[in-house]
Amino acid sequence: MTGPLATRVAKPDAAAIADAVRFLAGGGLVAFPTETVYGLGADATNGKAVARLYAAKGRPAFNPLIAHVTDIAAARTLARFDADATRLAGSFWPGPLTLVLPKAGDCPVADLAMAGLDTIALRVPAHDAARKILSGFGRPVVAPSANRSGHVSPTTAEHVLADLGGRVDLIIDGGATAVGVESTIVACLGEPVLLRPGGLPRETIERALGHPLAAAVAGADDAPRAPGMLPSHYAPRTPLRLDAGQVEAGAALLAFGPKLAAGAGGALRVLNLSERGDLTEAAANLFSHLRALDAAGAKTIAVMPIPRHDLGEAINDRLARAASGR
Ligand code: TXA
Ligand code: MG
Repeated sequence: MTGPLATRVAKPDAAAIADAVRFLAGGGLVAFPTETVYGLGADATNGKAVARLYAAKGRPAFNPLIAHVTDIAAARTLARFDADATRLAGSFWPGPLTLVLPKAGDCPVADLAMAGLDTIALRVPAHDAARKILSGFGRPVVAPSANRSGHVSPTTAEHVLADLGGRVDLIIDGGATAVGVESTIVACLGEPVLLRPGGLPRETIERALGHPLAAAVAGADDAPRAPGMLPSHYAPRTPLRLDAGQVEAGAALLAFGPKLAAGAGGALRVLNLSERGDLTEAAANLFSHLRALDAAGAKTIAVMPIPRHDLGEAINDRLARAASGR
């Protein structure tokens, strides 16, 4: 790459989708909405395009990418599905679930995208614009969250522009994403293992499997892990204080539920993830509220306790990472 690119932002009409497909085919980078967060897409079969993508994100190349495809049939050309994987894909694709599977012998995805692993992460997104781009392109598209490495994932086109303006060719603006946290990642390499809690609740997956999901054991050599799940992956600049029962004067408050924490009146700024205490609404608001409070100039962000069931597992996971950063 030479100088900065002139990044264009466009609504997902037919002309913009056609441009997105053209940029991808030419080895370019296109940010587009999925139902979880915005992704930064590149042709998964083009090693040079994948290298550009790592550079644009400032992402270490040992952290592998998710390949996005239109349907299960396309996914089967890239990886081997066992019975559990077939059941999960059949139940939840298209949707916010990523499966880590053994790579097919003739998988055309560039090795760099898998960071040298013999497994591949696959996802079939549900968002209309993403689906149109994938079917127009006809090849797998690798798409990490469209943020600079280490930043909070983007849930609007404005977030993408703030992080990656000048580094991508085109941003497709489909408005705020519906789910708001990244996909749930499950490895099916034997007993299914939850690698990353996300937009599809664990409870829903376990009901489909008929048994509990094993948890990835941090530090265990034989356990598959999501290499990108570094503790500080989602760090805002402002320090976070979790499970806050009260708010110190001058702090910002990330609230949850109808009853605010004690001292909320003295907060510099208050944003509520969900006044009615709804975890789905809270997940959708999480990253944009974190970005907004990070910009408020407070010394700390106090975060009220959030239940840990359903989407609360992913919300608490991302908050714990945000709190352990910087
Ligand atoms: O919702 C999402 O999944 C979004 C949208 C854009 O699809 N994408 C996303 O990608 O969150 P990214 O790159 O930010 O996170 C992908 C995670 C990383 O933690 C990476 O280490 C893990 O998936 N991963 C990728 N391939 C893997 C593999 N073969 N084994 C284990 N983990 C893998
Ligand atoms: Mg990410």
